[in-house]
Amino acid sequence: MKTILITGGAGFIGSHLIRLFVNKYPNYKIINLDKLTYAGNLANLTDIENAPNYEFVKRDIVDGDFIQRLFEKNTIDGVIHLAAESHVDRSISNPMEFIQTNIVGTVNLLNAAKHGWKDKIEGKLFYHISTDEVYGSLGDTGFFTETTAYDPHSPYSASKASSDHLVRSYHDTFGLPIVISNCSNNYGGYQFPEKLIPLFIHNIKNNKPLPVYGKGENVRDWLYVEDHTAAIDLIFHKGKKGETYNIGGNNEWTNIDLIRVICKTMDKKLDRKEGSSEQLITFVKDRAGHDMRYAIDSSKLQNELNWKPSLQFEEGIEKTINWYLENEDWLNNVTSGDYLKYYKEQYSENRY
Ligand code: NAD
Ligand code: TYD
Repeated sequence: MKTILITGGAGFIGSHLIRLFVNKYPNYKIINLDKLTYAGNLANLTDIENAPNYEFVKRDIVDGDFIQRLFEKNTIDGVIHLAAESHVDRSISNPMEFIQTNIVGTVNLLNAAKHGWKDKIEGKLFYHISTDEVYGSLGDTGFFTETTAYDPHSPYSASKASSDHLVRSYHDTFGLPIVISNCSNNYGGYQFPEKLIPLFIHNIKNNKPLPVYGKGENVRDWLYVEDHTAAIDLIFHKGKKGETYNIGGNNEWTNIDLIRVICKTMDKKLDRKEGSSEQLITFVKDRAGHDMRYAIDSSKLQNELNWKPSLQFEEGIEKTINWYLENEDWLNNVTSGDYLKYYKEQYSENRY
């Protein structure tokens, strides 16, 4: 029986990963460590919350003493670290939360792993989940590879870049077994409706304006979230220690083209006149420091570990739109904060 600590497991990508690991690996005990910020929601995990190999711990990774105790009380074999403040716009209005969670929180986990694993390092792994945004912004051509120099522009990407450097430094300085992956923009169910795709689906449904930053010409490389978690599974089990892997969908869209696809699909699903959702598009002031283009070269992961995205974008976006339309209660719940009441009824805060 191995014990795997997954941080941020109540968030968007984390909840998909927890579901995959709890179901696929009954011989792993999965500890989900999450503070439950506005972005963390236990309603994302109701289907597995009573699984015998799953435990939820509500704590803050910024609490270093607690993280040490967690490692002392459990024999943790692997860490998959996703907990983070993840929204660029929030990092512009409140950078300090990003410094605390993304940098200090990551170092607390590194220290606890270094200390906890000092007598037996064999078979251990600290897997840090990162983003392509650390590489900065591309022009019209080219791709980010694992050796592209870091050039972050937002407090979010700068805090993630900093955490990536710290993780590598613990490998190089202390011999901590680590692996890092940098992924492009994810989409799918359970994403908090502040990010582009769920926000726009939500707004179209409610006939609210669609705020497009600048001219909508920025390009993102979109990957279906379950293709990301499949890559994490592969890298966790087969990745080479000390290495970095880029993960991407090879699926570039300008924001405005992507928004038009969402509008068209929503018109059909909601039985609205063709073109009616597009009328909600409203061009607004651009995001400060807005990166123009992200695009990932994932050939290392494809060639070395035989990964490839399983879904075509058209299929993925339709699945995603269906998910949000079928899970209206989830959307209302995360936007109202009712899930906190749910949490209090289910769990006590002081388990450690
Ligand atoms: P998310 O915002 O949906 O979830 C983050 C989770 O971390 C939440 O459950 C939140 O409660 C938890 N958390 C935040 N601060 C915490 C703290 N101090 N202590 C404990 N838990 C805390 O994020 P996501 O989109 O699922 O992203 C997960 C990870 O993947 C992040 O590290 C992010 O940088 C990375 N990533 C995301 C994307 C994307 O497109 N969403 C792409 C590439 C990489
Ligand atoms: P987002 O989902 O916030 O991801 P990221 O900034 O991490 O790539 O935004 C995706 C793109 O959509 C980005 O170029 C900013 C743009 N955007 C808008 O135009 N309007 C919005 O309301 C939001 C949230 C994003």
